[in-house]
Amino acid sequence: MIIPNLEKARKRSKGPVLIREHDYKVSPEEKRLGIGKKYFIKTYGCQMNEHDGENIKAILEDLSFEEADQYIDADLILLNTCSIRENAHNKAFGMLGRIKHLKQQKPGLIVGLCGCMAQEETVVENILEKYKWLDLVFGTHNIYRLPKILAESMKNNHQEIEVMSIEGDVVENIPVKRDSKYKAWINIMYGCDKFCTYCIVPYTRGKQRSRDPKHILNEIQDLIKDGYQEVTLLGQNVNAYGKDLSISYGMENLLEDVAKTGVKRIRFVTSHPWDFTDRMIDVIKTYPNIMPYIHLPLQSGSNRILKLMGRRYTKEEYLTLFYKIKKALPYSSITTDIIVGFPGETEEDFLETLDVVKKCKFDSAFTFIFSKRVGTPAYKMKDLVSVEEKNKRLQELNQLVNQYSKLANEQYIGKTVPVLIEGYSEKNGTCLMGYTDTMKLVNVVGDAKYIGHIVNVAIEDVKTWSMDGKIAE
Ligand code: 5AD
Ligand code: SF4
Repeated sequence: MIIPNLEKARKRSKGPVLIREHDYKVSPEEKRLGIGKKYFIKTYGCQMNEHDGENIKAILEDLSFEEADQYIDADLILLNTCSIRENAHNKAFGMLGRIKHLKQQKPGLIVGLCGCMAQEETVVENILEKYKWLDLVFGTHNIYRLPKILAESMKNNHQEIEVMSIEGDVVENIPVKRDSKYKAWINIMYGCDKFCTYCIVPYTRGKQRSRDPKHILNEIQDLIKDGYQEVTLLGQNVNAYGKDLSISYGMENLLEDVAKTGVKRIRFVTSHPWDFTDRMIDVIKTYPNIMPYIHLPLQSGSNRILKLMGRRYTKEEYLTLFYKIKKALPYSSITTDIIVGFPGETEEDFLETLDVVKKCKFDSAFTFIFSKRVGTPAYKMKDLVSVEEKNKRLQELNQLVNQYSKLANEQYIGKTVPVLIEGYSEKNGTCLMGYTDTMKLVNVVGDAKYIGHIVNVAIEDVKTWSMDGKIAE
């Protein structure tokens, strides 16, 4: 049993990051583990987790498991969890409650927990005490070891916990089963060294480790051959890409090289304003296949709160960067993340946040109430803001954000824009759906033959979170 340790997770090792290309191994016995068995994986949280879920699916299929449509049909259920806020925890524990009932009816059922929650010391302590029926727990640093962990648990029929606190290096060649045939997530880096005071990610995902550009570019070449239209470069803080590499090669170099592969659409998330260089803006402007869409988390508009958050920029610096991007890329859409109710946030601080929203008129914003995470510096900060007040601020902020989202969408009425058609809409099964270059969701009336293609769509109507259009060709 290897359990996580917060102190170790906080430490940053100094040595160079090793790229390990041969660490994912499956023995012939492990290849047969899942014969005649089905798996179901439920993923919570960010794109990084979604992509980990795609790796886990491929590993399980390598072990001969088949995917089940619903968890009640599965012989193996994995919860790929998120730690970012308390409600993500609650969702996972709620699901575990339902699965416990199923396990009572189906004693052979194997249940596992992985993802960010597995990296939390307090969660694993709780599992050891109250969830003895859980079969396996593994962390974000040892996904590649799943065949071994699962084999151990199945063979010995006991709870198997393997969560490394210190990140491994970069493990290449883990298989992937992508959810889409047209757009792909690509990790360009793992972990984060920014340590914003509210954020658990630097503890659950470890120190920043960039992938070798060669591996990223090869992966993209393969995706192009397989007909993929869009790649999204993933990292907690993609603009810091390369800072830990021994060569002088940063995000602007990577973006340029990815653009030169000719892949039709390139996106990247998430950017931290701190590392956003002028050269990056130039590259985005130069290459039409880099999408004019930037997610630029603000978190707060108050300099006092930004300082307490450890964000390393002021309101004025954020606005300067925002205007610089808008000036260079007037057509671009810019979205953001905002936290309200950070410990000690006053009405004046909150008004500063509203002021930035009014100035930037974001295309959309993900808004959150501050959630205390064990082990982070903000956990211990005095939090005198009442729950009612936090809710009131969130509502007020959302109203403003939604007003600007609608306004941004209204600019599209009567225009014809490129949309990558992904399939049928979940809400309206007769309608197609896809995203514009600026990342706007569009419901499209048109023929199924357009699925998987980037087509021109005439926008006829807009709502707050989506638009309606029809194929213009
Ligand atoms: N409480 C609330 N929101 C948080 N985020 C990160 N940590 C917390 C927290 N403890 C938000 C930030 C980040 C987004 C992914 O989640 O806005 O950008
Ligand atoms: Fe968390 Fe800040 Fe790193 Fe983003 S940049 S993952 S908010 S610590």
